[in-house]
Amino acid sequence: MARFSFFHARRLLPLSLVVSACWLCGCEGGSSEQSPSAEADDVAGSVAKKYLNQFPIGAAVGNWELDNASRALERDFNHVTCENAMKAQNIHPAEDEYVWTEADRVANFARAHRIKMTGHALLWHRQAPAWMFAGITAGEPRTVELLKSRLKAHIEAVVNRYADVVDNWDVVNEAISSDYSKIYRDGPEGSQWYELFGSEEYIYWAYQYAHDALEAIEPGSAAGKLYYNDYTVTSKVDQILTMLAWLETRGIHVDGVGFQSHEYMNWPSTGELQAAFDRFVAAGYKLKISELDVTVYDDYASGSFVASPQVEYTPELEDAQAGRFASLFSVYRNNRDNVSSVTFWGVSDNRSWLNYVPVVGRADYPLLYKDATTPKAARAAIMDF
Ligand code: GLA
Repeated sequence: MARFSFFHARRLLPLSLVVSACWLCGCEGGSSEQSPSAEADDVAGSVAKKYLNQFPIGAAVGNWELDNASRALERDFNHVTCENAMKAQNIHPAEDEYVWTEADRVANFARAHRIKMTGHALLWHRQAPAWMFAGITAGEPRTVELLKSRLKAHIEAVVNRYADVVDNWDVVNEAISSDYSKIYRDGPEGSQWYELFGSEEYIYWAYQYAHDALEAIEPGSAAGKLYYNDYTVTSKVDQILTMLAWLETRGIHVDGVGFQSHEYMNWPSTGELQAAFDRFVAAGYKLKISELDVTVYDDYASGSFVASPQVEYTPELEDAQAGRFASLFSVYRNNRDNVSSVTFWGVSDNRSWLNYVPVVGRADYPLLYKDATTPKAARAAIMDF
């Protein structure tokens, strides 16, 4: 089923972080004496602990979450992703300038808590710095070589800095067309990468550079870490499999597919999701849920977004949404052997990007917490198994 894509406006959040004691990874580092009932309380009280035998539970974070939601983060999550800080525009704003501060804070939080993070994202057509493409002309091999060398330098720098703490890299994000009659996102669909290379060839180079950077740090260490990430993946399975098969012919094995999973209340169905999972697994790929949230608006299928009336987030709606999260998690659990992580795109509703996209200022309620300290019915629902 084709869906209108609203992933056009992007926001940049201010970001910073607080490191505190390690207990969310379940390691031996904390207090050793625990009564059985305290242990039971711990499990009942932590999504990450409840899911320890399933998959890591992640959250996209930045300075705000580290400063304001560290209690929720430490309690419920054992994996992190930089919401914006690792994107090329933020971390590499000029050719000779890297800004590591915020991504370092997130990485240091992960290191201090002995958890892992997602490297998001090495190549994306959005939030890419203008300098990267400056002076490059499509069809001029010499300048395309320059673009390749810039991409290589960018990937090497980011991979080298975070290889110890990143267990999976979104090497390429959103390279597939939303026009299902094509395979690849091209220039008119916003990809300067495609436009300047004149083809999908850049995708190959991104994976090659990421693979080589990891292997140079430690031979064998690239294995299992290279992902392709996209939205509305259930609608793009054929296209993505075509790309992955092409990469295999070029000697690149992508390890898994990230389902961003910015979901609606009623789409995709659990059956569609399972069918997509099955196809990737049958072809030899891992799965991850990389950017989960569930909007309470239902105007995405039509694309006729309106600022008002805003949806009233009644207890009934909160319960219905909790049911939706419960169904999704039941599919994830059924596939736990192939799902490498499940990451929410944020911690709390009050900071979600969906309050800005597709309509600026339209309140949405897509996550597990209302604010930094108030869990929602959805949190209880995914713990109920
Ligand atoms: C995409 C990107 C994310 C983020 C979200 C919306 O899904 O992969 O990094 O920008 O859009 O915020």
